[in-house]
Amino acid sequence: MPRILLLPGDGIGPEVTAQARRVLEAAARGADLALDFEEDLIGGASIDAHGTPLTDAAVARAKACHAVLLGAVGGPKWDAMPVATRPEKGLLRIRKELGLFANLRPAVVFPALVAASTLRPEVVAGIDLLVVRELTGGIYFGEPRGQALVNGRREARNTMVYDEEEIARIARVAFEAARKRRRAVTHVHKANVLEVSQLWVQVVQEVAADYPDVSLQHQLVDSMAMLLLREPANYDVIVTGNLFGDILSDEAAMITGSLGMLPSASLGAGGVGLYEPVHGSAPDIAGKNQANPLAAILSVAMLLEHSLDAPEAAEAIREAVAGALADGHRTRDLILPGQDLAAIGCVEMGDRVLARLERS
Ligand code: IPM
Ligand code: MG
Repeated sequence: MPRILLLPGDGIGPEVTAQARRVLEAAARGADLALDFEEDLIGGASIDAHGTPLTDAAVARAKACHAVLLGAVGGPKWDAMPVATRPEKGLLRIRKELGLFANLRPAVVFPALVAASTLRPEVVAGIDLLVVRELTGGIYFGEPRGQALVNGRREARNTMVYDEEEIARIARVAFEAARKRRRAVTHVHKANVLEVSQLWVQVVQEVAADYPDVSLQHQLVDSMAMLLLREPANYDVIVTGNLFGDILSDEAAMITGSLGMLPSASLGAGGVGLYEPVHGSAPDIAGKNQANPLAAILSVAMLLEHSLDAPEAAEAIREAVAGALADGHRTRDLILPGQDLAAIGCVEMGDRVLARLERS
């Protein structure tokens, strides 16, 4: 029986994970799939209980599972802590320990949500892009790193480093994904300044030779940030390093209407996949039943597709989400000032998606 490890984490993590679990159970039932759930701590919750953002026991548990469903980490309570011991370190560690180098962040605009975007409807209509973010390398993990006192002054450094194999394997993920989509890859870099990016351009170009049926363009990261606002529907697969991918995926999410809509899958060479909403822990609304569970629910669809080989169940969830939105149901984040819509809570949105799912 497939084992799923729940790591709800901090802030709104537990609320959205609870709704995602309900939807996963219902979809799995519909597909005659029996699942076994386990739960553990990550982030601030783990710091409070164990003094560390992720225990070795939780890592071992994750490695023994088929998939991990994660909520969010971090919050003001732990904000003053040094980088090395913060809640975020738990997330970075589990990505690294599970070898999850490929982070897939699809950004699509649901027709019912075109008006929720801050961009004009004609710009937003038709957005369907996939950010393929390298997740276990680059400046997030490079050494040397840290703060030191040099000649009486505080100095800090981080290192952006990639080797050619790390670049080639994420490039292959992007080209393979493009083959199942519109066959267009945009590689995002800063090669006019960074040697690391020059190596990316070379290696991505080399990998492209194996994919003559997929088009490739290279785009500077600053232009890309601009182009995503100007003509987001023109992009298919965007492949980039860890830091640029972090930034651009928040932008990609927001132009589709809300950060509360974007799911993600983190995959690697090992068998375990990790699924999490792209949004953070939103401490300001935590525990108030105001969070949008749809990013977590859509992450569960990715889990069914990539870890449980149940693409129909995944599609049923996506349709149920689209249906709930088409029925006019909105959490707070999906309503712009001046729009005449009443907000429902996190649990109620879970109810609406479940109702739609059970009808199908
Ligand atoms: C994300 C988040 C994380 C990241 C943080 C919480 C460490 O912003 O998944 O995008 O930077 O990778
Ligand atoms: Mg981020």
